[in-house]
Amino acid sequence: MERMIKTDLLSDENRMENTLRPKMLRDYIGQERAKNQIKIFMDAAKQRQEPLDHVLLYGPPGLGKTTLAGILANEMDVNLKITSGPAIEKPGDIAAILSGLQDGDLLFIDEVHRLNRQVEEVLYPAMEDYAIDIVVGKDSAAKSIRLELPHFTLVGATTRAGMLTAPLRDRFGVVLKMDFYSVEELEKIVKRSAHLFQVDVDDRGAKEIAMRSRGTPRLANRFFKRVRDYAQVKGNGAITEEIAREALNLLEVDPLGLDHIDREMLLLMIEKFDGGPVGLDTLAAAIGEDKGTIEDVYEPYLIKNGFLERTPRGRMVTGYTYEHFGMERRSSQ
Ligand code: ADE
Repeated sequence: MERMIKTDLLSDENRMENTLRPKMLRDYIGQERAKNQIKIFMDAAKQRQEPLDHVLLYGPPGLGKTTLAGILANEMDVNLKITSGPAIEKPGDIAAILSGLQDGDLLFIDEVHRLNRQVEEVLYPAMEDYAIDIVVGKDSAAKSIRLELPHFTLVGATTRAGMLTAPLRDRFGVVLKMDFYSVEELEKIVKRSAHLFQVDVDDRGAKEIAMRSRGTPRLANRFFKRVRDYAQVKGNGAITEEIAREALNLLEVDPLGLDHIDREMLLLMIEKFDGGPVGLDTLAAAIGEDKGTIEDVYEPYLIKNGFLERTPRGRMVTGYTYEHFGMERRSSQ
């Protein structure tokens, strides 16, 4: 009998992300540099009938690292296994995952910088020689036996390549940096999503969502979904510039994509520290955020877009930030 209630671990948002995720490289918008490189390495591996070399994807969250891993598996026509650094606790866990793989499989490890030392050490020979050394027996009877593994591809994702230990980083043959998306690319992503969901969106409506999405497709799709709700309830279902603007104002996403945490951080720097310089520790304590989250999640977009500068003496807001908030610098720097 069919079960009446199906429990699904995927949240609504994850389910939607999955429907919207492109499956093949030709449908993946943006990241041209990474795409051009990986296409050649995949074609070469396919011609030689070998698995793709291990790939490291790094860049801020929400830029499509998991999506790209899925595409690599589809393009290479191999199975995809997904796990994450914090989920693998013991050497035995990674040994079990690796020995369960089949030839050619692609193993995706998200947050690969969070693997612990002992687990990492199992990965070194696995990546290099497709083998792991297992210790059997105890004390004087202990001996190490080598277990051959299938030829697999490891795809690791991290927010910063610098957080990986050097021995692990060096074992990735391909390192791809993911960049923030341009407004034009995000506009295309919004239009693609609207098409898949059969929602009408005009150019200016798509652009309004794109401009406020912080260079990040995950946000563009999340905002698209909320604007679609708004359009349905307050309008006739179609997404126009006006509808998008009203909906995003309701969500407190500002016209340049800053969210309330970005604004809180920048305003605090202006009001309490006269625009800086402020040390990262002080800033983290003042806004009650983790230092790593500030560095990996908040800062990259603010720096890229000229709101914030990293100086040897600490973080400083720029003249542009003052302008954005309609404020003036109190003292001359
Ligand atoms: N959806 C999310 N990210 C995407 C991308 N880079 N290209 C196309 N659709 C996407």
